[in-house]
Amino acid sequence: MLILGLETSCDETAAAVVEDGTRVRSSVVASQHEIHGEYAGVVPELASRAHSERVLPVVRRALDDAGASYAELDAIAVGHRPGLIGALLVGVSAAKSLAWSLGVPLVGVDHVHAHLYAGSMNAPQAKAFPALGLVVSGGHTSLYLLDDWLSVRRLGATIDDAMGEAFDKAATILGLPHPGGPNLDRLARAPGANDRAVDLPVSRLGGESLDFSFSGLKTALLYATRGVPQAREDAPKPLALTDERKRDLAASFQRAAVGAVLLKLDRAVEHLSQQGTKVRTLLTGGGVTANSRLRGELETWANKRGVALRLPPMEFCVDNAAMIAGLACELHAAGRVSGLDLRAVPTTGL
Ligand code: KG4
Ligand code: ZN
Repeated sequence: MLILGLETSCDETAAAVVEDGTRVRSSVVASQHEIHGEYAGVVPELASRAHSERVLPVVRRALDDAGASYAELDAIAVGHRPGLIGALLVGVSAAKSLAWSLGVPLVGVDHVHAHLYAGSMNAPQAKAFPALGLVVSGGHTSLYLLDDWLSVRRLGATIDDAMGEAFDKAATILGLPHPGGPNLDRLARAPGANDRAVDLPVSRLGGESLDFSFSGLKTALLYATRGVPQAREDAPKPLALTDERKRDLAASFQRAAVGAVLLKLDRAVEHLSQQGTKVRTLLTGGGVTANSRLRGELETWANKRGVALRLPPMEFCVDNAAMIAGLACELHAAGRVSGLDLRAVPTTGL
């Protein structure tokens, strides 16, 4: 089964050819960082235009790299939700045209769901379920319980900022360039960075809650950097934002943000075990799974808990089309193919 996947939900134009669900024959990602960098965020209209210009060259490149022809494709998959509506429409329209002209099935894939599949790319297919799913990206931060690839139940989600969004905003507070998350990660790893220099809050929410919150952490970082607004005259002033201080603030932010995720994973495993569900695997995905500290702590956590960890290789953490084509193979096998009336939808279906 050879599937061509397309991904255009945000600021990456991507195409990939995947064989039998997990063997990545090619994966091409054209990022638009250079276009949105000066605005410190993605500008939807510019993203759509760039997708329109790039989608066909990216598809041709993916086929070339895979050494495959259009005639060999068994299906066309596309991330059709969630995302920026104009950006999604480019991928959905391209995928429909290809599926119709080649006479092969079209498979619409939920982008967030596909992030959970990313750790299965090029990996041996051990039995995974029941699995806990963690998606941490620029737009989403959610926990799921999966009984199989088609039965996905959301256990909790962020009530304010997504984790990647919080990293990006924290990077802006510290004066780091776009893309903020990877730059903050690099700074937090700089020699001598002290992750306990500032005590930033780890959000817990209610004792039972499996939701996340990052806005308090972001505000605490802002105050640690610029001072508390309308503070008393005699209150201590914030330390000067030297390179050393920035490094310490980045490390302290990262410790608190990652700590909040681990806390919710513990809660979820315990909550599920009380209900008689023993989690076998932790499936992870989304841009923030590229974070060095999160990767390290997830590995330690999974070992301690006796849970198998599927952590995507770096290239499949951020948006890519291999995860779309991979999950599409499971959907196709289950008969979940789409009609040519497939719609682009801004929200997730999960
Ligand atoms: O999954 P993704 O490419 O797009 C969405 O679906 O949102 O995730 C992008 C997000 C951005 O917020 C980016 O700053 C964050 O992932 N990110 C990171 C790292 N690499 C990417 N955040 C923290 N540390 C990183 N190394
Ligand atoms: Zn994504």
